[in-house]
Amino acid sequence: MESYTFADLVGDEELFFAEYWDKKPMLRKNALKGNPSEILSVARLDEMVNMEVIRPPYVRVNLNGNGIPEKAFTQTVTVQGTEIPDSVIPERLYDLYRSGATIVWSSLNHIEPRLRSFCGLISDKLGARTDCVAFLTPAGHQGFNPHHDPVDLFIVQTEGTKHWRLWNPQGERSSQIGTYTEEQLGEPAIDVLMEPGDVLYLPYHTPHAAAARDRTSVHLSIMMRPRKWEELLHKTVESLTEGPEFAAFPYIGDSRGASVEEEFQVKLAALATKLGNLDASTELDRLLDSGRRLEPGRPPRHRPEDTFAHSASLDVLGPEAKLRRTGIPLEFGASDNGRTQLVCKGRTIAVPSAVAEVLAGLEEGASVDAATLFPDLPVERSVKNAQGFARLGVLEVAA
Ligand SMILES: [Fe+2]
Repeated sequence: MESYTFADLVGDEELFFAEYWDKKPMLRKNALKGNPSEILSVARLDEMVNMEVIRPPYVRVNLNGNGIPEKAFTQTVTVQGTEIPDSVIPERLYDLYRSGATIVWSSLNHIEPRLRSFCGLISDKLGARTDCVAFLTPAGHQGFNPHHDPVDLFIVQTEGTKHWRLWNPQGERSSQIGTYTEEQLGEPAIDVLMEPGDVLYLPYHTPHAAAARDRTSVHLSIMMRPRKWEELLHKTVESLTEGPEFAAFPYIGDSRGASVEEEFQVKLAALATKLGNLDASTELDRLLDSGRRLEPGRPPRHRPEDTFAHSASLDVLGPEAKLRRTGIPLEFGASDNGRTQLVCKGRTIAVPSAVAEVLAGLEEGASVDAATLFPDLPVERSVKNAQGFARLGVLEVAA
């Protein structure tokens, strides 16, 4: 898949944040180069339907604006004695789709690493939680009637086409979903046939209506929940009031003494001082970082060295493999009976003291053959030890 950036989605970032962010919808035709169906295609959705592990709420069905009960397209399957009560029946889903239903795929970022990375473009930039919902709509069918959603949305057309109409947010914006009639809305601000690679941005409360025309449509609706000042300040105060200074349980009931009120004044003053001393830039970076971690299905991204494939590659390290120390800290504990305690990532292991000495003496960046890494050991055991420490993350293969 082409590797995309946040700027691919929004174009000129400065202009986006000044003119559109949290204000009005934006259309960017041809925003994504390459083949956008590689992000999500009809063919991939066919594969997913047939995976047999897909179940509601990851998949839902909507026909003529109404949700179809799950019972209509799921069945119980048994996995090693455990009943899964709502496994999707592909034929039923296909039947409903052929009769005009839209298939809604929720939180696909939990299932597809590609979509997780794609959502990450947005959450990394904004420090906001994101969630990817995909809509598969058959040709010639309205997906949903005019409505607004209580979250900000990025719409990405990945395959086929869909006709969208959007109106600027009107009235007081609320955090509730809302529906409209055509008469209430009047002329749309944006009226577009979305094609693969086109992107729309909708601040929350933007009325919109969409319908597939003469082509099957797949689009992503990436929901994001930016945090208000209220939530950010709450987080800041929360972090400043951690620790023993604010840990006591005061009695604040009716018969409390004046000393409790005085103490409260002292705490308020202490908090005010802490707030006054806070560096805004550092604190915003901290809040940004915490926002990036709000989506439990996503960060931290797995590192290549955490993968099964990486572990498997270490099983076949040969005597000639060049290894070096990683940055993972090692603590050396007591030695007894020729064995030394090592603490690594919270785990304590006892290793031959000669091995511990070699590890302690390895210079950063220097690479050594697995065969001779532990010179006191026979080649085979030196290699086995090297593999073991590589699995622990203490050693890595030198490039
Ligand atoms: Fe919507």
